[in-house]
Amino acid sequence: MTNQDEVQVSEAEIAVHWQEEKLYHPSTSFIAQANMTDPGIYDRFSLDNFPECFKEYADLLTWDKYWHTTLDTSDAPFFKWFVGGRLNASYNCIDRHLDEYKNKAAIIWVPEPEDEPHEILTYQELYVRVNEFAALLRDFAGLKTGDRVTIHMPMVPELPIAMLACARLGVIHSVVFGGFSGRACGERIADSGSRVLITMDGYYRNGKLLNHKEKADRAASVASAEGQEVDKVLVWRRYRGKYVSETPMVEGRDFFVDDLLADYRGARVEPVSMPAEAPLFLMYTSGTTGRPKGCQHSTGGYLAYVTATSKYVQDIHPTDVYWCMADIGWITGHSYIVYGPLALAATSVMYEGVPTYPDPGRPWRIAERLDVNIFHTAPTTVRMLRKAGPDEPAKYNYHFKHMTTVGEPIEPEVWRWYYEVIGKGEAVIVDTWWQTETGGFLCSTMPAIHPMKPGSAGPGMPGIHPLVLDENGNPIPAGAGKAGNIVIQNPWPGQFQTIWGDPDRFVETYFAKYNKNPDSKDWRDWPYFPGDAAVQAADGYFRILGRVDDVINVAGHRLGTKELESACLTVEEVAEASVVPINDELKGKMPDIYISLKPGYQPSEEIQAKVVRSIETTIGKIARPKHVWIVPDMPKTRSGKIMRRVLAAISNHMDVGDVTTLANPEVVETVRQMVQGDRESEFYG
Ligand code: PRX
Repeated sequence: MTNQDEVQVSEAEIAVHWQEEKLYHPSTSFIAQANMTDPGIYDRFSLDNFPECFKEYADLLTWDKYWHTTLDTSDAPFFKWFVGGRLNASYNCIDRHLDEYKNKAAIIWVPEPEDEPHEILTYQELYVRVNEFAALLRDFAGLKTGDRVTIHMPMVPELPIAMLACARLGVIHSVVFGGFSGRACGERIADSGSRVLITMDGYYRNGKLLNHKEKADRAASVASAEGQEVDKVLVWRRYRGKYVSETPMVEGRDFFVDDLLADYRGARVEPVSMPAEAPLFLMYTSGTTGRPKGCQHSTGGYLAYVTATSKYVQDIHPTDVYWCMADIGWITGHSYIVYGPLALAATSVMYEGVPTYPDPGRPWRIAERLDVNIFHTAPTTVRMLRKAGPDEPAKYNYHFKHMTTVGEPIEPEVWRWYYEVIGKGEAVIVDTWWQTETGGFLCSTMPAIHPMKPGSAGPGMPGIHPLVLDENGNPIPAGAGKAGNIVIQNPWPGQFQTIWGDPDRFVETYFAKYNKNPDSKDWRDWPYFPGDAAVQAADGYFRILGRVDDVINVAGHRLGTKELESACLTVEEVAEASVVPINDELKGKMPDIYISLKPGYQPSEEIQAKVVRSIETTIGKIARPKHVWIVPDMPKTRSGKIMRRVLAAISNHMDVGDVTTLANPEVVETVRQMVQGDRESEFYG
C-alpha cells in the first residue's frame, strides 16, 4: 500500500509507455528438431487439468517408488508434490545415463587462463568423482541425510560434484555465490545450521588468481559468533597438490580434499532413496528485510520441473552442447547448468572466469571450439559484450540454434543485437522470467511454438497461470495497457517449499497479500505473489517491469536495500543510510547510496570509501554502489520515514513529484543540486 505522504509514481507506471514490437519467428529448421512442437500442451496443462497435468513432467524422471498423490494441499500454502514417491537426484542426473552415455561429456570445464586445458568429465567420470566425494562426506565429515552443508565455491567442476555428492546422500546443500564475502557466507552458514563448509583455495577472475580460502576463515568466525560452529572446512585445491592461497590452514578444522580423497578411491555410495518432498537444497536470496531468506527446494517437484523446462524451453537433447554462462552460485546455475541439463544427459559447459577475459572474443572462441549450440546468459552480459566487442561474434565460426535471456528485463534494442549479432539471425531466443523461489521458468515463449517479441517474456509456461492484479486484487485484463502485480494463480512443482526456519515469513511475503482466507486448504485461495510489476499485452504476452519491493536487481542479481543500508550503518560516522536503484547502462540497475553523518563529522572521501569497503566486506563486490552521496539530511515524511522514492527520482534525473507534504521539503532541492549539479567532489564511483 502506498503511504499518503509518498510520491505516487511507480517505476511500473512509468514503464508502460512502450511500443508494441515486431514479432520474430523460429526457423523451420529449429522447429523440425525441437522437443516440443505441440501447442496442445497448453490445453493439457489448462487449469481444468490441474494438478494432474504435471504427471507428464514427473514422468521424465526415474522414480524408485511412484507417488500416490500429485498435489497435497492440506497444509496450504505449504504444498506437497508427488507425495508417496521416492527418488534420488544424483541418480537421475548421473547413474541412469550410464548405460547409454557413460562415455559422453557431462561437464566440459573451461578455465579462465586460455593456455590451461579444458577438463572434460564424462558421465562415467562424474559418477566416479561424485561417489568418491559422497563417501568422503559420509565417512570423513560424518554427514547424513537431512544435514545441511554450505558450499562456497567458484565455477569449477568440483562445485557440481559437491552438490551431486550431497544429493546422493540426501544432504541438503546450500551453495553461496563465490563472489559473496566471508561474512555473507558465515551468516548463511549460521542460518542453515551447517557444521561443514566446502570451499576452495583460489580461482581465476579477470586474470588474477584470487585468494578464496581467506573468506572461509571469516565465514567460520561470523558463524561462530552467531552460535554455529564449523567443525570441518573441506578445501579443494585449484591445482591438485598445490595450495595457492596465502591463508594458513587451521589445524584440525581445515582439510585438503585432494589429500583425503586418496582414501576413497573406487568408493561407491548407494544413492539414498529420498521422499519426493525431502529438501534438495537451500538457496539464499534477498528480500525486504536485512536477513536473506533460505529458499528451500524439494527433490521430486523441483527436479521434475527443471528437467521438463530444460527439455521443452531450453530445447536440450543429449546431443546438444549447452552453455549457460550464469554462476552455479545462483538459482539459474542450479536449475539450468546442473540439475536440468544433467537430468537430460546433456553436455553442460562451465566457464571459470569473466566473459571479456582476456578480450571480448573469448565467449565466441569457446563456443567455436566446443561447438556450443545452446547459449544462455543475462541481459547485463549481452550489454557488456555489445559495448566491449560489437564485432567479435562475426569473427568466429559458431552457430547457436537457441539462446536464453534471464534475470532482468531486456531492452528491445539489446534483444535485437543479441538476436542479430550473437545469434547471427539463426537462433531462437527465449526470455525466461522466474525467480530463486520458483525453481524454474514461469513465463517464456515455447521456442518452436510461439513467435518472439523483444522485451517481453511471453505467456505463462504450461501449467503456470499468471494474472496481473491491481492493489485490491482485481484482475487487469490483457491489453488494458495498465501495469499491476503479476501473480501465479496456482502452485507448481518447482515452487519452493518454505523459507528455511521461517515459515511465517514464507506465508507473509508470498501469499498474504492476495489471500482472503488464511484457513483455506484450496489452492485457488493462495495466489503466489512474486513481487514484480508486469503488463499483459492483448496477445497474452507478459512484459516484466521490475520489482515492486525494496529489492535492487543488479546485473540480474538481487540485493535487498535493507542489507545494503545495514552495511552502511556499520560505518562509525554514518547516522542514516538510504539505498535506491539507479539506472546503469551495463548493469541495468546499481545501488546509489545516500548517507547522513552523525553530529561532529565532516563529509570526506574517506567516509565514502569506508562505506564502499563495508559493503564489499559485508556482501561482496557485486554490491558496489554507483555513488555514495553524503547529504545534510534525508527527505522525510512527517512521520519520519525516509523517502526513498524521492531519492530514486533524484538519482535517475526524474521528476520528484509533489514534495510539499514532506517534513523537510527544502532538503529535496539541496540534495537534487548536489546530485544533479556539477559537484564532482561528491561523486564516488
Ligand atoms: O524481477 C525479476 C527479475 O529477477 C527477479 C528474480 O531474481 P532472482 O531470484 O535472483 O532470480 C534470477 C534468475 C531467475 C525477478 O523477480 N527477472 C528475472 N528474470 C527476468 C526478470 N525480469 C525481467 N525479465 C526476465 N526474464
